Amino acid sequence: MLADKDRIFTNVYGFQPWNLQSAMARGDWDKTKDLMVLGQDGIIDKVKASGLRGRGGAGFPTGMKWSFMPKEPKADRPNFLVINADESEPGSCKDREIIRHDPHKLIEGALIAGFAMRARAAYIYIRGEYIREAETLFAAVAEAYEAGLIGKNACGSGYDFDVFVHRGAGAYICGEETAMLESLEGKKGQPRLKPPFPAGAGLYGCPTTVNNVESIAVVPTILRRSPEWFASFGREKNEGTKLFQISGHVNKPCVVEEAMSISFRELIEVHCGGIRGGWDNLLAVIPGGSSVPLVPAAQIMDAPMDFDGLKALGSGLGTAAVIVMDKSTDIVRAISRLSYFYKHESCGQCTPCREGTGWMWRVMERMRTGDADISEIDTLYQVTKQVEGHTICALGDAAAWPIQGLIKHFRPEMERRIIEKNGGGLSPMMEAAE
Ligand code: NAI
Ligand code: SF4
Repeated sequence: MLADKDRIFTNVYGFQPWNLQSAMARGDWDKTKDLMVLGQDGIIDKVKASGLRGRGGAGFPTGMKWSFMPKEPKADRPNFLVINADESEPGSCKDREIIRHDPHKLIEGALIAGFAMRARAAYIYIRGEYIREAETLFAAVAEAYEAGLIGKNACGSGYDFDVFVHRGAGAYICGEETAMLESLEGKKGQPRLKPPFPAGAGLYGCPTTVNNVESIAVVPTILRRSPEWFASFGREKNEGTKLFQISGHVNKPCVVEEAMSISFRELIEVHCGGIRGGWDNLLAVIPGGSSVPLVPAAQIMDAPMDFDGLKALGSGLGTAAVIVMDKSTDIVRAISRLSYFYKHESCGQCTPCREGTGWMWRVMERMRTGDADISEIDTLYQVTKQVEGHTICALGDAAAWPIQGLIKHFRPEMERRIIEKNGGGLSPMMEAAE
């Protein structure tokens, strides 16, 4: 279990005020100028050495991403930092807690990260539904300007750096980094084809890095306490501490910072008071937000909660939004509901996603009620394979994977309800085929 002294987010439950005075008492903005003296490449090297991987879900190495940015930006083509606070993944709620209770960690991180990648400004794109959080963020940014921490000669460093907060309007797809850039430019939020990646052509066609809130907010502490300290948690290629968000059928759902690679069992026992009804009552877990496949109880119990540990189980760490389902869960209904979500949020730009998400949801609904044919389970699987990897952005994959996980692990349950609905006999489709 992570010791309190090793927690980065010491105010994650909001026991203390979020404001600048209180944040400074917790150590934020402490000699920030001295951190910037490390130099731009010096900071990037330290972030690389810490092993920090993107906390928004994909786990791309953060320091490497920063190093893609031009070292000598042109006057008419400045570098930009965009911070993704559009947290919309079902199950995810960690960035909300950072913004609510520790916004100065994010703003200080924005300055340091922006300086390291030679950006003159950061745009924080916050999801429209986070109304109170946006109010807090606007107020915290104003405090930082007033104290000279950002703006002209930020922290007395000689570096000018602006921070803008932009509110989204409630579309899940605007969390996809290139859709976010479109939205920031005032256009309809639809993903762009990649490459080019944003570092080559991002906001207004300029070099841009898009980072998640948590990835940015941990940077000042990594520099203050050392990359080695951060890398001492977790295991190789899965280093650091991480905010886990545990929801569903546990006794005490919570958001908690823990060491990467903690086992699922320890995470739930120590922080959530165990599974509702005991461990024998656990059915399955979606370990990384709704975009990753579920893992059945027997496989996840002792799994390390990190990128590689969950990948080995055919799932992923994603945003570390751990959705726990006990045996009272109608698992087919749960996945069908996720299918509806992806159908609803598809931007409609590419055919496999636009048509496929609606088709998959309609079939999933018939699977839920038992009105499908057993042979359609294979057809459904084949369609998910035709959507996966054939779309402009990852939403197509995200719609396909939960269904694939369901078929892989709960096929007998899908078959059972079809057989029961037909009184143990053949379904109408199979009867017609006989
Ligand atoms: P991705 O793997 O395509 O990209 C990850 C990051 O690395 C991006 O910033 C991308 O620009 C950069 N990158 C990747 N390859 C690169 C290259 N060759 N050169 C330069 N930069 C490169 O993943 P994506 O689509 O950005 O994110 C998918 C993940 O997002 C999913 O795994 C899911 O867990 C997560 N997600 C999180 C949500 C949230 O609310 N936080 C919502 C929905 C999905
Ligand atoms: Fe839009 Fe879906 Fe295509 Fe992504 S995969 S660009 S959400 S239609």
